Amino acid sequence: MPHEPLAIHGGNAAFPDGPPEWPLQDATVKRALNRAFNDGSWGRYHGPHCARLTDTVQELHAIDHAFLVASGTVAVELALRAGRVESGDEVILAGYDFPGNFRAIEAVGATPVLVDIDPQSWCIDVQRVEDALSSQTRAVIVSHLHGGLAEIWELCALAAAKGLTVVEDACQATAALIDGRMAGTWGDVGVLSFGGSKLLTAGRGGALLTQKSDLLQRVKVFSERGNQAFPMSELQAAVLPPQIAKLQERHDLRLKNARQLIELLRDLPCLIPVDLNESTNSPSLYKLAWRLDESAAGFSREAFVTAIRAEGVALDAGFRGFTRRSSRRCRRSGTLEHSQRAAEQTVILHHPVLLTDSTVMEQVSLAIHKVIGGLGS
Ligand SMILES: Cc1ncc(COP(=O)(O)O)c(C=O)c1O
Repeated sequence: MPHEPLAIHGGNAAFPDGPPEWPLQDATVKRALNRAFNDGSWGRYHGPHCARLTDTVQELHAIDHAFLVASGTVAVELALRAGRVESGDEVILAGYDFPGNFRAIEAVGATPVLVDIDPQSWCIDVQRVEDALSSQTRAVIVSHLHGGLAEIWELCALAAAKGLTVVEDACQATAALIDGRMAGTWGDVGVLSFGGSKLLTAGRGGALLTQKSDLLQRVKVFSERGNQAFPMSELQAAVLPPQIAKLQERHDLRLKNARQLIELLRDLPCLIPVDLNESTNSPSLYKLAWRLDESAAGFSREAFVTAIRAEGVALDAGFRGFTRRSSRRCRRSGTLEHSQRAAEQTVILHHPVLLTDSTVMEQVSLAIHKVIGGLGS
């Protein structure tokens, strides 16, 4: 049944100027841009900003080495190269993950091996990894996704016993804590993204994190082509420290609002939220996921996303996953039913709305209830 959009955008008290936008209009970022203009670093290959950002990222993560690069996507590939992954090797990853991670494995000439996800966390099911090992296995990519965090400590223990490199993709898990330790610092190499939609944004950009100087050295050697082949610019680096200064405050606010929204939607059996698992973790909310159980709902994900976006709520379908990829391109280990279901049913809320307040969470909840009531009737 058609429904009238709720006025939670355009002219409404909660969003008088339209829904929350990203990036934020932040005066400290503007000052940083001005400084980069005034000191001339914006037009140079080298300057103070990348060096300062490297220190800040290392300090934030309490890690020995950060290496700035052009994107999270290329950082994953560099991490595999640091782990000496090459043609003929296998790399394990989840059947539901960022598409670039599959491509990064192919880019180094290796074969992706798919294992299922844990349906509660949306992340690789660590119990399944051991079964997927072969004599060719060289590395595992583990991504923390959509507010979920992988059981990375178990994976690291297994990988250490088997001599595998763990690439920990924390592009969606900026400043998340797992058992008190920052996401991105558990694996042999961690990967961050500073892309345009990310919680820390420079429009583009990324970083590798590692405690291991030999891995760092290999990344540097591969990246050096008489010049840096995958660099972050001075201008990009300039805008990140002011955002890092506000990261904890924003992290806490997003988490508080996410908790509230999940609770407000608990009465909807067709929407199954990601498990934030706060007993051991402090998750980061770049995206916040639910699974829309279409058979319980009685309507499609596409209809739901279209209707909720008409309400001004930035909700999207999740990744497409890899379960339908040709077996010429990858090997499957075990069933991939949760990955398949995630690919078909995930809806993700984009983070800017989580920097608002509890009244807005109530409005978002109201809009979702209204859409589900309307579509289901
Ligand atoms: C899990 C994950 N890994 C890697 C990336 C790639 O980051 P970038 O956009 O900086 O290339 C993304 C981007 O959304 C991501 O979500």
